[in-house]
Amino acid sequence: MARNAEQNGGLYYPSEAVLADISVADFEALREAMRVDLAGTWAEIARAEFEWFEPWHTTLDESNAPFYKWFVGGKTNIVLNALDRHARSWRRNKAALIWEGENYECRSYTYHQLHREVSRFASVLKAMGVNKGDRVTIYMGRIPEIAIAMLACAKIGAVHSVVYGGFSVEALHGRIEDSESKIAITADGAWLRGNIVPLKNIMDEALLRAPTIQTVIVVKRTGQDVHMEPGRDLWYHDLMNLPIADAHIETEPMDAEDPLFLLYTSGTTGAPKAILHTHGGYMVGVATTLKWVFDIKDEDMWWCAADPGWITGHSYIIYGPLLLGATSLMYEGAPNHPFPDRWWDIAERHGVTILYTAPTAIRGLMRFGDAWPNRHDLSKLRLLGSVGEPINPEAWRWYHRVIGKERCPIMDTWWQTETGTFMISPVPSTPLKPGSATLPLPGVEIDVLDEDGNPVSPNEEGYLVIKRPWPAMLRTIYGDPERYVNNYWSRFPGVYMTGDSARRDEDGYVWVIGRVDDVIKVSGYRLGTAEIESALVSHRAVAEAAVIGVPDEVRGHAIKAYCILVAGVEPTQRLVEELRDHVAHEVGPIAKPATIEFVDTLPKTRSGKIMRRVLKARALGQDEGDLSTLEQ
Ligand code: WT7
Repeated sequence: MARNAEQNGGLYYPSEAVLADISVADFEALREAMRVDLAGTWAEIARAEFEWFEPWHTTLDESNAPFYKWFVGGKTNIVLNALDRHARSWRRNKAALIWEGENYECRSYTYHQLHREVSRFASVLKAMGVNKGDRVTIYMGRIPEIAIAMLACAKIGAVHSVVYGGFSVEALHGRIEDSESKIAITADGAWLRGNIVPLKNIMDEALLRAPTIQTVIVVKRTGQDVHMEPGRDLWYHDLMNLPIADAHIETEPMDAEDPLFLLYTSGTTGAPKAILHTHGGYMVGVATTLKWVFDIKDEDMWWCAADPGWITGHSYIIYGPLLLGATSLMYEGAPNHPFPDRWWDIAERHGVTILYTAPTAIRGLMRFGDAWPNRHDLSKLRLLGSVGEPINPEAWRWYHRVIGKERCPIMDTWWQTETGTFMISPVPSTPLKPGSATLPLPGVEIDVLDEDGNPVSPNEEGYLVIKRPWPAMLRTIYGDPERYVNNYWSRFPGVYMTGDSARRDEDGYVWVIGRVDDVIKVSGYRLGTAEIESALVSHRAVAEAAVIGVPDEVRGHAIKAYCILVAGVEPTQRLVEELRDHVAHEVGPIAKPATIEFVDTLPKTRSGKIMRRVLKARALGQDEGDLSTLEQ
């Protein structure tokens, strides 16, 4: 990368070495091919790069838009392409998954071994009565069994619904209930910063509220005593030692449009919604975009430091790298445990060549100074990545200089749970501007619109929208197709509304500004104001609550809550702590408000809607804007 970027109009150009290494052929030609023939170009990729049990007859069916369908009539299974085909190729003895526990325990699985474990667990699930189309809730830490469980579900056509291990009782309960899962897979606990997250206890408490679960399979990770409910709870290792754990099981041929997984995410209003992704389109999209953006090769050591419980982990720890036959590294614990160089130590010891993480983690590690990374050999790194929120130029430059040694381009990837895969992102040859996700990928057509749906001029802020369907797009909100249409396709008919605001500069580079809805990004995690508010009002002391996101140096945003107390309740500091703990217990530690303020009233519209915009302006000392709808 050029050291004199500031002299190049702020652009960082890829070095000759980076350019010489790129294996994806002519990117501009691909962009043009997609522009001219979107479906035809995707069809070519899908045919050339993936195995199908049966070919499709229609690549893109737009007849029932916005319920788009891809590769209609085709039969495949994501596991056929992520495991089966590699296990019978020369890659069978190549590492598929390398795992490091927070306690430095290490495990690795070759493609052969992972294929075998997944097949055995798939047989167990079948023996437990899990059928094609059944939903399975998975609630675990970052251990290999989470990947095995997800892939085993996919192999038999069951639909996994992973709930992030940092969520707690009510969040887990709501997701189990909404997905109508009959079976759950969890662990006794998870290690985090040397402490145990009591996953099984949280599951037990959630199940008191969600009695639909008939079977719980428990992986032993931390080894402390846990309650095992007779007739309901079974140990994973016991099941895997039974003859039912048969390695010889066929991969279920799935329609391209059959559901692969549900993943809950926060939206503008109400409870979290289950985003539904499919076997065919998601598979094609996820592998292809990963190849374009990070150009993973067989000799790479790919490390996506996200959690498998989020879309980033689904797409880029598990499915994407395995589809490409790559080696994927998974780390269980905290980035700064036991010391602030844990990540750099991991990168050195495992010879990581590509690191993909979030701005909040970069800012968090940057705080500890350069000496920690500098004592490690990071020379194997060749590319870096960022995701989750806009990366501030200061963090970008530190990442580039101190971690990438000015050698490694940074791929700032913009996408969402809903998009399934990268949408706006550089590729290694793209000149970079710190803080911009640069340009839409081939086949992705975006626009920035004003209130009336007209495109804005360069450098003007507006609503970021996507104008054409893409293979890995969400298909619907599980159980609520109307909400799918209303949420994403109604604000501007015919185009997909991302919920983000953005501007495009004179070079067409996209600068994402942030959410325009009631979604708050805390440490890159997506939380809805409604979830946190309903946790607050579920406490006996709170009559009404409103939460907003306020800027925070490390986390991007922190949660600030306003509560009206029930008459007669004393507003004490102890109550503040109790309420913060209550939110952590119900939703999860990530949702814990940083500050809680007790108030007598909340600004509302005449129709009773809380005006969070006004609260935010007040908290930040800004102009409160148009107050004409405020109830006086
Ligand atoms: C929202 C989606 C995509 C995986 C992780 C987040 C924000 C994401 C970027 C980026 C600026 C970004 C957007 C988006 N976002 N990546 N590179 N630059 N903002 O998935 O939890 O569904 O959140 O994250 O606001 O809408 P998610």
